[in-house]
Amino acid sequence: MTVLPSHVPADRVVDFDIYFPPGVEQDYHAAWLSLRSPARSLVWTPRNGGHWIATRGEDVRALWADAERLSSDVLAVPRGLGALMQFIPLQQDPPEHTPFRNAVMRGFASRFIVAIEPQVIGNARELIEGLAPRGQCDFVSDFAEILPIDIFLTLVDLPRADRPMLRGLGAQLTRPDGSMTVEQLRQAADDYLAPYVEERLARPGDDLLSRILSTPVDGRAWTMDEARRMCRNILFGGLDTVAAMMGFVALHLARHPADQQALRDDPGAIPDAVDELMRRYASVSVSRNCTQDVEIDGVVLKEGDIVYLPSVLHNLDPLSFDDPETVHFDRRLNATRHTTMGVGVHRCVGAGLARMEIIAVVREWLVRIPPFRLDPQRTVTMKGGNVGACVSLPLTWEV
Ligand code: HEM
Repeated sequence: MTVLPSHVPADRVVDFDIYFPPGVEQDYHAAWLSLRSPARSLVWTPRNGGHWIATRGEDVRALWADAERLSSDVLAVPRGLGALMQFIPLQQDPPEHTPFRNAVMRGFASRFIVAIEPQVIGNARELIEGLAPRGQCDFVSDFAEILPIDIFLTLVDLPRADRPMLRGLGAQLTRPDGSMTVEQLRQAADDYLAPYVEERLARPGDDLLSRILSTPVDGRAWTMDEARRMCRNILFGGLDTVAAMMGFVALHLARHPADQQALRDDPGAIPDAVDELMRRYASVSVSRNCTQDVEIDGVVLKEGDIVYLPSVLHNLDPLSFDDPETVHFDRRLNATRHTTMGVGVHRCVGAGLARMEIIAVVREWLVRIPPFRLDPQRTVTMKGGNVGACVSLPLTWEV
């Protein structure tokens, strides 16, 4: 716990640990909703070094979009992780951010996403076919945390033999068991990626990293240090986020047999359904560092304060969306209206890829797995933090 700063009014103080919100093990989204109050939006928690949290949807969105007064350099609470990760482009602010972001965006251009789709489907199919005869699985450890690793290997054209090692690292990111510190995890990822990064800088191929690294930044080549920081961002950015989203989508379908059946009956409805599920089950929250004083909701966020922005509190605010907690497959929202993938200059570069992956998973799963439900003998558990997720999601079906 920290001393309350003098500019924080006592009536804005709450005791809320973003890593362990109350009741998170049972329901990540409900745990966050417990923080809402009609009386105020911005609250201050002394946990994790002391920081603000925006709780009203419009404030979450407005602060997230404000790259002029809020920096993404800090990465997370408590301060410290930012200096360790040094992600490119995530921790850069404009104007430095812009050329790096443009190069990364070129790598994720929609024609490459379309071109890679058959391989993603192949990766998903292979895993699902292995699970189908078992009649049960833990969707998180048996599927959701494995598929994004296989897809990363495909995207970057890395050897299949590296699967087990990278799966081990991925599991440490999604379900840390305490055997590795964050420093060790970063180092292991860097050590693994370094030879491939060097190779792709020297002799670009046709893979994602080569495409990004062969795009100059401000008219010059990427340095090795920048290339490493970018690869780290792409590796860590597309693992636990995708795994979390897949988990929530599977959880919803397991709990709502009618929705499951509707998509079995009409697979053409899957893309719109996925967009809606991605809105409903937002799981990423970001931390921003105030680079100047920001007045909002009757309080002043002082230069140097950190404000925490949970996408769940934007997407589930009735002022942002009608009947926000109910899934309506026919909502047909523009995906940039919700904040699941962020908003503003840092909006997820992998958004198109992630959407394609999740659509492919839902399609392939429903074709190969008969009606499935939660395993009544075992418990669903969830976790909080910057990427909230199911930690365990036991499913069962008839074989
Ligand atoms: C459902 C899955 C995903 C979710 C929910 C998600 C969410 C987000 C969010 C909320 C941001 C903005 C962060 C901020 O403003 O601080 C972001 C940025 C980013 N994401 Fe994703 N992401 C997903 C998948 C991916 C994938 C598959 C990749 C790459 C393989 C990726 C790579 C990145 C990168 C590099 C950034 C930084 C962009 C920038 O700073 O300009 N993400 N993501």
